Amino acid sequence: MEDIISLCKRRGFIFQGSAVYDGLAGTWDWGPLGVELKRRVMDLWWNFWVDKRPEVYGVDAAIIMNPKVWQASGHVATFADPLVEDTVNHRRYRADHLLKDKGIEAEGLTNEEITKLIREHDIKSPDGNPLSDVRSFNMMFKTTVGPVDTAEAVAYLRPETAQGIFTNYRNVVDTLYPNLPFGLAQQGKAFRNEISPRDFIFRSREFEQMEIEYFVRPEEWDKEFTMLLGLIHEFLEQVIGLPADKIHEYEVPENDRAHYSKRTIDIEFDYPIGREELMGLAYRTDFDLQNIQRVAKKSMEYRPKDGSAPFVPHVIEPSFGVERLIMAILSAFYQTDEVGGSKRNVLRLPHQLAPVMATVSPLLKNKPELVKKAQEVYAMLNDAMPGRVNWDDSGNIGKRYRKADEIGVPHCVVIDFDSLENDDVTVRDRDTTEQQRVKISELAEKLK
Ligand code: GLY
Repeated sequence: MEDIISLCKRRGFIFQGSAVYDGLAGTWDWGPLGVELKRRVMDLWWNFWVDKRPEVYGVDAAIIMNPKVWQASGHVATFADPLVEDTVNHRRYRADHLLKDKGIEAEGLTNEEITKLIREHDIKSPDGNPLSDVRSFNMMFKTTVGPVDTAEAVAYLRPETAQGIFTNYRNVVDTLYPNLPFGLAQQGKAFRNEISPRDFIFRSREFEQMEIEYFVRPEEWDKEFTMLLGLIHEFLEQVIGLPADKIHEYEVPENDRAHYSKRTIDIEFDYPIGREELMGLAYRTDFDLQNIQRVAKKSMEYRPKDGSAPFVPHVIEPSFGVERLIMAILSAFYQTDEVGGSKRNVLRLPHQLAPVMATVSPLLKNKPELVKKAQEVYAMLNDAMPGRVNWDDSGNIGKRYRKADEIGVPHCVVIDFDSLENDDVTVRDRDTTEQQRVKISELAEKLK
């Protein structure tokens, strides 16, 4: 984990949020390489789940929603984590995490049960002080809407993008009238006021979700659940390219499931911090649409085109977190090997994820004829693959290769003296470190 965090900071993938002011806990900023990696992941997701699926449509809802959304959804009442306080210095902690650090599982237990475990095992705060009883802490960030700071003006930053989809279900049915099953997909920021954000970007207070609500006939939920589970594996293993042996299904028991779910399978991943949740597939029944129907007093029924009786569809939700997926990618592909007898760090990103597809360099930066030719090649490649090629004439060629390897660049293009004679370049492969000569006229096509 330390190596990955260091790579991200050193090379410009991910920085601590507000680092210049000593940071803000649980927030992260994406640097030039990180933002490209994140964009690739989000585009691959959209392409697989929306563009390629005729029955899935996209939406993009507001982050701040009418507070009734979160009352109806159950988040105001139940979206909480167990909190304990150090009785001496009043620092606050997530009770289940303190127990987990001692090897004791507390997931799915009531506050009273967790308090009992803390007493039985004589768990103290990290500063060695006694702990309070456990109480619930609601994780939604509050804000106020408009110029008056009153209780009526309180609104929340969304803790899941899902509700922005449910609240648009009626709009989409009324405008597109899609056949069932159909899906609505959304990507966007979500916010959770974590008691103790930790493990780098794994648990942060502001993060990005990619969610699909898949609306189905109630009697078909089981079949569609299995279909979506298959698609999830295809996306993670074929599209993103994560190693299948690090991906595991976990059938979440009833007492651990979110308040809206009748069945959940978590997809877990072998991270450096252990096997943890990567994403979830939840059968949310008609819980959300029924709640909207009751609170908003608007029908959420779907009227089948064959004239049969209307009904409220059930929903299956594949829910991905961008940061967790990127942490899986970085931990799966950041490796150390040996080249020419010396150790090298290499980020073996599958090519579809690489922020930079190729670097272009003159072999020597003090030879104007090499620099000129290299600049021509760079301009040509940048035209052919805008934004996917970097110019690099820093340090010596060995250092440039090391840097390119560490940020996952699949190919390094170098212009040497033979290039001036033969109109060709060397192309070095990141994974094998082998070089081949390629005609400049064929280079763009070959790299693409
Ligand atoms: N929509 C599911 C979640 O945010 O966890």
